[in-house]
Amino acid sequence: MSLLTDIEKVRAEFDDRLQSAPAGDDSFEELRIAFLGRKGKLAGLFSQLGSVKQTERPLTGKQLNELKSYVTERLSEFQSASAEAPEVVADIDVTLPGDPVPHGSIHPVTQIENEVKAIFGRLGFSVFYGPEVETDRYNFEALNFKPDHPARDMQDTFYLGQEQLLRTHTSNNQIHAMEQMDPPLRILMPGRVFRNEAINARSHCQFHQIEGLVVDRNTSMAELKGTLTYFARELYGPDTVTRFRPSYFPFTEPSAEMDVYWGLDTERDYRITKGTGWLEILGCGMVHPNVLEAGGVDPDEFTGYAFGMGIDRMAMLKWDIGDIRYFYEGDLRFLTQF
Ligand code: PHE
Repeated sequence: MSLLTDIEKVRAEFDDRLQSAPAGDDSFEELRIAFLGRKGKLAGLFSQLGSVKQTERPLTGKQLNELKSYVTERLSEFQSASAEAPEVVADIDVTLPGDPVPHGSIHPVTQIENEVKAIFGRLGFSVFYGPEVETDRYNFEALNFKPDHPARDMQDTFYLGQEQLLRTHTSNNQIHAMEQMDPPLRILMPGRVFRNEAINARSHCQFHQIEGLVVDRNTSMAELKGTLTYFARELYGPDTVTRFRPSYFPFTEPSAEMDVYWGLDTERDYRITKGTGWLEILGCGMVHPNVLEAGGVDPDEFTGYAFGMGIDRMAMLKWDIGDIRYFYEGDLRFLTQF
């Protein structure tokens, strides 16, 4: 068999193997050694050149040299193409459904807070946040608590040393807001509050309130009632019945508490409403002139109304949660239900 035929065979074999070689340096190296290496196929062909007939030698030599440059060129093309090609990752079935990604949930108290914010947002209230660590002035004094008021008692209030305490209600924000902004004001102030109370299923030493404050030139008790009745109907449904009972807070005058009619259809209703059918949902009143003054607002020019509600209990009622402690334990078995 002539060497020329072998040359063509080797070329065909090279083409074949190059075609089916997976991209990458390993293939390049393997082919380079197999064909151009010292003991490679081409070296083998070259070594037979001496035994070719004198007359055929120039042509055969030429063919062999051509094959060598052909293989060299193709291999170097293959190498640079491999460098550009992304690595092939085998065995991925892109039609398989993906792994489920666990998603978080919004804390029930936050959900109620968001709902309340949205309702008052539609009435033009914006949101304002104040500090949880407070001084006596903002939590009590500027809110018209007399120096010997029992709410200041250590049994009720957490003190942090001489000067500071944990706010016992979000009403501290009323003073901060009036100090920081000029009236008219129409603001909602959500936040966490703290009271030195024994922890059990019904009460906790921390809970959440949302405070509202309106300060303007001609606010009135009628506007307060209209605003809060609208709020109750947005939250509990358009047929919700409300009532206002006279009450007392040092920082409002007159003061009231608003109840919504819950009903007495089930045993649970009796329990929740203590047999009255009514549910107290917030405290409210016209801002006391002393409080306006403490906040730097002229009580002869402006009046205001304020309200405050606890939202943990609202969340407990909405989802029938029997124990307030669940809200503060971070137990995913509880939290992921909402
Ligand atoms: N701060 C009062 C409480 O904690 C609620 C309240 C706020 C009452 C604003 C009147 C006006 O019970």
